[in-house]
Amino acid sequence: MIIAVVGAAGIVGQEFIQILESKDNFKVKELRLFGSTQSVGETLSFKGKSISIKPLSQDAFKGCQIAFFSAGNEASKAWAPKAVKEGCFVIDNSSQFRMDKDVSLIVPEVNIHMMPKKTSPQIIANPNCAAIQLTVVLNPLQRAFGLKQVIASTYQSVSGAGKGGIEELSKQTIGLLNGDDSTPSKVFAHSIAFNNLPHIDKFDDNGFTMEELKIMEETKKILSQKDLDISVTAVRTPTFNGHSEAVWVEFKKHATRKEVLEVLSNAPGVVVQDNPSDNIYPLNRNASGQDEVFVGRIRQDLGNKNRWVMWIVSDNVRKGAALNGIQIAEKLFDI
Ligand SMILES: NC(=O)c1ccc[n+]([C@@H]2O[C@H](COP(=O)([O-])OP(=O)(O)OC[C@H]3O[C@@H](n4cnc5c(N)ncnc54)[C@H](OP(=O)(O)O)[C@@H]3O)[C@@H](O)[C@H]2O)c1
Repeated sequence: MIIAVVGAAGIVGQEFIQILESKDNFKVKELRLFGSTQSVGETLSFKGKSISIKPLSQDAFKGCQIAFFSAGNEASKAWAPKAVKEGCFVIDNSSQFRMDKDVSLIVPEVNIHMMPKKTSPQIIANPNCAAIQLTVVLNPLQRAFGLKQVIASTYQSVSGAGKGGIEELSKQTIGLLNGDDSTPSKVFAHSIAFNNLPHIDKFDDNGFTMEELKIMEETKKILSQKDLDISVTAVRTPTFNGHSEAVWVEFKKHATRKEVLEVLSNAPGVVVQDNPSDNIYPLNRNASGQDEVFVGRIRQDLGNKNRWVMWIVSDNVRKGAALNGIQIAEKLFDI
């Protein structure tokens, strides 16, 4: 296969390369790496070879079977349709095409039945990272008990804002520990060190942020449940990697704790970590570098017996982005 990674020097791009390297099922004849002016000319290693990052050009996707895009909306908007014209499947991490009615938004454990046929190259959208981990847990609960309402508060790490986010938290933390609060905030609206920011992406006129709207709308699309009553508050926390979510889920049917645990324990891609008396529950540092979505603190709410409360954690760069894209490619090409 000839595979392209657009945004190769970014956090998600590098994760794509690392996962491709670790998997024997992808027979990569050629790996093409693309970036913007800052990273063009840099080299990255793949299976012992150095590959230099090139600028995007008209013939970038000639002969390519798959292009993984992780370079933001503008790059996807400009180049993904061109890649498709060249006969290439695009797996796109940006939010550019996710809500288009003709574009599939896929989490392989959840809605693989909505995957397009391999015969016609097209764009397949990779969902928002917080929506991926949420739907991996909600899907088995939806099948077993039906979903009436979902309320979630997210605790999202700075890697969700790319390499700039990681750098900003590092610099500001080191600065503050040395008594210097002057490191400017360029990626985030305020200093992220030792702070929680209830603000991810721009604000919409309705008071929600675009991140919150993405999580709500994409969750409904992935679960094919337009009438799902869902509300989200998205918070950026001073953690480096892994997103956590406190989630209140109201079922349509009554369930016992044993049934809920059984459904989640048997769900693909889900690991239940739920033993509070031994301090066992999911933690973002433990989830970092792992493929699965972790769920714990599973409890029946006190005021509403059909509402269940839980804590959902996953690696946003891995399952929330690159790994999910690789899993889509595996299903698409039966590899
Ligand atoms: N990080 C996450 O957890 C996560 C999760 C889900 C989805 N996503 C999405 O994935 C995409 C990448 O995110 P990231 O976290 O990897 O960001 P990042 O670390 O900032 O990396 C973005 C990369 O894209 C490259 N780029 C920017 N504009 C480009 C252009 N016009 N042409 C070619 N390359 C271009 C940049 O190149 P230079 O290095 O040359 O500047 C950079 O390497 C975004 O759309 C993001 O929303 C991220």
